[in-house]
Amino acid sequence: MSGTPNIVIDPTPAELVETAAAHIRAAASAAMAARGTFRIALAGGSTPRALYPLLREGVDWSRARIFFGDERAVPPDDAQSNYRMARETLLDPARIPAANVVRWRAEDPDLDAAARDYEAALTAGVAAPWLDLALLGLGPDGHTASLFPGTSALAEEDRLAVAVDVPQMGTRRLTLTYPTLVGAREVCFLVTGKDKAVAMAAVVDAGHLPAARIVRRVAPVTIFCDAPAASALRRTKRQEP
Ligand code: 6PG
Repeated sequence: MSGTPNIVIDPTPAELVETAAAHIRAAASAAMAARGTFRIALAGGSTPRALYPLLREGVDWSRARIFFGDERAVPPDDAQSNYRMARETLLDPARIPAANVVRWRAEDPDLDAAARDYEAALTAGVAAPWLDLALLGLGPDGHTASLFPGTSALAEEDRLAVAVDVPQMGTRRLTLTYPTLVGAREVCFLVTGKDKAVAMAAVVDAGHLPAARIVRRVAPVTIFCDAPAASALRRTKRQEP
């Protein structure tokens, strides 16, 4: 049985991040009311950079646990670091306690050990589902987190977090796996730009490419996208706000 994602389209990225921020604030309040905490995995890449400042307010981060969907194999102060991007745009300005933030030890020469430690941190003291909300992006090739086409991480059915070779990027990455992301209470994608339109259509309409397995899962999936990113979607799937 497959689910149908809720696709929310805003004309511009600026309007889109406001819509997505309001949704995430509401999800945080609901999780805290239900379970006393909010466990979120943040997306990396460049698209969330405009969203995170909007989350400095309106979420009681003192009662949250913040994970990252994936990370590049770089130190935390590297310009390529997803952690650094989140630290600069949200974690530091919102004075989120470091104890509430679970960073990948991506500078570790032994990335497999770093992935096992991340798995242990993700599951410490809680039962599945491990996340209340997974925030994800989408690459032009249909990858999400660091689940890239043709890589070994796509076949992972047991591990919750792995290190993976990504030959097309000439690097290794750390990523949460399908069991973790498909198993999250809720998944939100944030996707902007014309360069993502073909991948969006392939993922949503055709149901292939790595992100599709998450998009068509049964539990709630919301895709927040701007009009250019949605421009190749079949009309039936588009819902204007
Ligand atoms: C990463 C991300 C990745 C990202 C997409 C989209 O570390 O790169 O987690 O999955 O979400 O590549 O990236 P942009 O937002 O930069 O287009």
